[in-house]
Amino acid sequence: MSTKDQKKSAKADQPGVNQSWGGRFSEETDAFVKAFTASVEFDQRMYKQDIAGSRAHARMLNKVSVLSDEDLTAILKGLDQVEQEIETGRFEWSVSLEDVHMNIEARLTALIGDAGKRLHTGRSRNDQVATDIRLYLREQIGHVIREARRLQQGMLALAEKEVDTIMPGFTHLQVAQPVTFGHHILAWFEMIARDISRFADCRERMNQCPLGSAALAGTSYPIDRAFSAKELGFNAPTANSLDAVSDRDFAIEFCSASAMLMTHLSRMSEELVLWSSAQFNFIDLPDRFCTGSSIMPQKKNPDVPELVRGKTGRVNGNLVSLLTLMKSQPLAYNKDNQEDKEPLFDTLDTVLGSLRAFADMVPAIECKHANMYAAAKQGFSTATDLADYLVRKGLPFRDAHEVVGSAVAAALKKQRDLSELSLDELRGFSNMIDEDVFEVLTLEGSVAARNHIGGTAPEQVRKAILDAKKRV
Ligand code: ARG
Repeated sequence: MSTKDQKKSAKADQPGVNQSWGGRFSEETDAFVKAFTASVEFDQRMYKQDIAGSRAHARMLNKVSVLSDEDLTAILKGLDQVEQEIETGRFEWSVSLEDVHMNIEARLTALIGDAGKRLHTGRSRNDQVATDIRLYLREQIGHVIREARRLQQGMLALAEKEVDTIMPGFTHLQVAQPVTFGHHILAWFEMIARDISRFADCRERMNQCPLGSAALAGTSYPIDRAFSAKELGFNAPTANSLDAVSDRDFAIEFCSASAMLMTHLSRMSEELVLWSSAQFNFIDLPDRFCTGSSIMPQKKNPDVPELVRGKTGRVNGNLVSLLTLMKSQPLAYNKDNQEDKEPLFDTLDTVLGSLRAFADMVPAIECKHANMYAAAKQGFSTATDLADYLVRKGLPFRDAHEVVGSAVAAALKKQRDLSELSLDELRGFSNMIDEDVFEVLTLEGSVAARNHIGGTAPEQVRKAILDAKKRV
């Protein structure tokens, strides 16, 4: 060793001078800066993926004869031990070692010596972290989709139970036309179905392996990128090394799909909050999903839907954080990218928690059938049915609309529903009206008449449920 080399390694061995890159530094990193630049507090949750990535990288290096058989064996054995130490809580995470990658590598080297130092050949933390996040998110998207499917199953159970339940359908939050509750819940089901396909799509697109991109330009070793990609279950290696180390599109896409999902859950929450209020009084949320008030003994608050509605804000915020994080970054890796993890992980945790709460709660919703029915009778919800009736008798729709409009105005004055007017009174608006009109003015007649694909008739809803069951 030359004196210069000796000085270098001595520096690197000084307490506080980073072992992985301390060589060119002449003073220890400021204590605050160490903590400020460290990510180990939040990136250690990717330890499994980091170790899996290292195993694949080491096997690849061995395959192309850059790493000896003995070194590979030592590395694999050492990584097993590190993994076990982490899982049994015996691993000591150190902020001085900055991140999950260097913590694991340092421990590996402490355990197996020089072989540990050879693991990083042809690799950089830049392709390493890009690989870890993809592996981690790929797995977590699986959990998100599973939880979303469980919610869908809960929705189908509820829809099936309430397939004949009549409630008012709203536009502008004004009573519009009667619908079945099963139909309403199937609308929710469709929202979640689109969310699932967005998550699956995002997972498919991100399933490419950055390993081998190294710091940014690739590496001079004769690596086999297809091999490591295959080892880790990726579809292929990424096509461009500069892009691979700097791309965080997949995190943004995930947060975007999550913001959309949360927006859906938030809309459902809003309905649950309204429906469980004394003013609507359509449903009962089970006590276990509600809380009371410390001052008002009568209160039962719909906390779970309210919180999910509230948490939508942070998920939307996380999406904006990531977009803003990336918008001015030149190629390739920048330290800014370390800021991708907290919004991403927070989004993931929030989405998983919200889905779990919803999947548990939705099938336990109890309908107050009489109240829903009574509400559907208000607000002239079958007025369109009367217009359609007149059209069937030969009146052009616009004229029918006019006739029914005056009938509604008259009924309003008398404070009666259209179905409560006598045949003579109704015939005062059009002599095309006969005794058979009362059938179309019932709520049951109104929903049953909408008997086509996507319509609210119980018969259709039953079919839609059968169809939906095949999709979950
Ligand atoms: N902790 C870093 C991150 O999360 C890992 C990559 C660091 N690379 C570097 N060149 N400093 O982004």
